[in-house]
Amino acid sequence: MSHRKWNIAIAILFLIFAGLLGSFYLSTLRIRQLIEPILSDDSARAAQRHVVLISQELDNPYWRSIEQGATEASAKYGMQLEYEGPIRIDPKEQLKLLEKAISAKADAVLVQGMNDPQSVAVIDQAVSQGIPVITVDTDEPTSRRLAYVGTNNLDAGKIMGGLVAKAAGNRGSVAVMIGNELAPNQLLRLEGFRSVIGRFPGLSLVDVRSSDISRLQATGETEKLLIRYPNLDFVVGLSALDGIGIADAVERMRPNGPQIFAFDALQETLLQIESGRIHSTIVQQPYDMGYDAITQLNAFFQGKELPEQHFTEIKVLDQPALTNKTGETSS
Ligand code: BGC
Repeated sequence: MSHRKWNIAIAILFLIFAGLLGSFYLSTLRIRQLIEPILSDDSARAAQRHVVLISQELDNPYWRSIEQGATEASAKYGMQLEYEGPIRIDPKEQLKLLEKAISAKADAVLVQGMNDPQSVAVIDQAVSQGIPVITVDTDEPTSRRLAYVGTNNLDAGKIMGGLVAKAAGNRGSVAVMIGNELAPNQLLRLEGFRSVIGRFPGLSLVDVRSSDISRLQATGETEKLLIRYPNLDFVVGLSALDGIGIADAVERMRPNGPQIFAFDALQETLLQIESGRIHSTIVQQPYDMGYDAITQLNAFFQGKELPEQHFTEIKVLDQPALTNKTGETSS
């Protein structure tokens, strides 16, 4: 073959090679265009994210509010929320539900802290398997949980102490009803409460009972208190159903008896404040706890760093505050 023919053949081969390279490049570009929206669309990815929320008690109205907030935020961020919890308060069952969420390979879990080595171990197991855990309502600070979303319970207890001291004019006897003897949020509230009451020598904390977050048990325990301390001045409930349970007993046994202080804003608690049977209540924001926990989770999935504790608001509601509120809304 002549020199010229060789050159033409090489040029043709070069053109074929360049053509192949070009089409390879174009198809790579096309594939990238096709998969890019899938990779960058966070809500599309989150649509597959399955988040399990485990409550202290399934149908407790306070926990249903947390569920509602979490459900609404999940819809916003395209997550799928599953709500679980024991029928009646049962820490062992709570742990089993957490283990179940791990074996079902949930994408994330929201759970109440229990201040219990076993709960720490199961939370840590979830995290080591790549399942982020956020504690809601009650923290589990020694675990590897991602963050806590809920009330600053120590502060809430101090605020309650201040309310009682103010109403008492610094003198009187007080009994406290806690939701559960082991629940860390209750113990922190009690610690905060004691720290304030202890500053007033005229105020004495005579007894601490547990309602086991049951209205009926709060009533039963208050009846016993009223018999044991006929001159009791104040009864303070530190969990959502305590105030109305205490009020049932006081109304039946000593209608002009001790003043009642409550926690949370269940409809019936507000009615009892309006009617003067409950003095005031410390209002937590369970809806926000659920909503904010999912929002934090979404931020985490987007690679953001979370604050270790995200405290939701608390406020005090008493009769004047309620009346003002009603006045505002009706005007
Ligand atoms: C507490 C929750 C508890 C609920 C029970 C709330 O005040 O924060 O931990 O489950 O009361 O009714």
